[in-house]
Amino acid sequence: MCRLRAVVNFKMGVCVLDPELRKMTLKKRLWAAYHGFKAPERLVSFVAAERMKQADEERQAWQEEVPRWERIETIAREALQQAGVAGGRMLEIGGRLNPRHANFPEFDYHALDLKEAPGAGVTVAVGDITNCPHIADESYDFIFSLDVFEHINKPWLAAKEIQRLLRPGGITMHSTLFSWRYHPCPIDYWRYSADGLKSLFDGLECLHADFDYSERRRDLRGRDGNMVECDALGGWRENVRVNYAGRKPQS
Ligand SMILES: C[S@@+](CC[C@H](N)C(=O)[O-])C[C@H]1O[C@@H](n2cnc3c(N)ncnc32)[C@H](O)[C@@H]1O
Repeated sequence: MCRLRAVVNFKMGVCVLDPELRKMTLKKRLWAAYHGFKAPERLVSFVAAERMKQADEERQAWQEEVPRWERIETIAREALQQAGVAGGRMLEIGGRLNPRHANFPEFDYHALDLKEAPGAGVTVAVGDITNCPHIADESYDFIFSLDVFEHINKPWLAAKEIQRLLRPGGITMHSTLFSWRYHPCPIDYWRYSADGLKSLFDGLECLHADFDYSERRRDLRGRDGNMVECDALGGWRENVRVNYAGRKPQS
């Protein structure tokens, strides 16, 4: 026979109805009945409560993942190792903010950005990666960017320049976004699929092109003018990163 059990779950803010009454103490039954009576709108079925619990776990799952930078660095390191690139000259595009020089100490690091950055802790050359004729062909062994490609107005020109600037055998790696909230920094232009990135770098041998779902259900709300209106799930919750690494063929 199906009997009802009521449990107060304070974390979820609900009073749960469960078909198995027998396992509950009298005290718990009275407690649940009192809360169900006081706030009947919070009374939910056992099945609904289980689903809510599962959704809550999914919402928090991103915190258990390997930290974002570690995931990105692993892809870069694997590509560099595969290509046998152990040092030389590195260019970070968009290195004005959070430059990654300390993470690649074996390289002679250079940063290129649209703006100067006196406090960046590295020398930033002002320039646009879509058009940098002042930098000689085949100048770099490793060209890297993190969260930059979505902000480049003409990414196909950037990809062409990157392929020109790479030494034969050199590696390029870019971590950008497939699905993320709008974030103009300074302008938010594009989102990419793994195939889209492969197509941009079609002169290179692809070593990695894949999605990263680790932060999928993270609650991102944005700020200032790009705040996402919250719904029952919270803020923006479809966060998918995409990473590409490629090697320039030996000519
Ligand atoms: C969202 S920030 C990311 C910065 C940093 N990599 C980080 O992880 O915090 C994007 C950076 O790319 C730079 N940027 C955008 N378009 C560029 C272009 N065409 N050439 C060079 N830098 C560009 C911006 O000026 C900005 O500093």
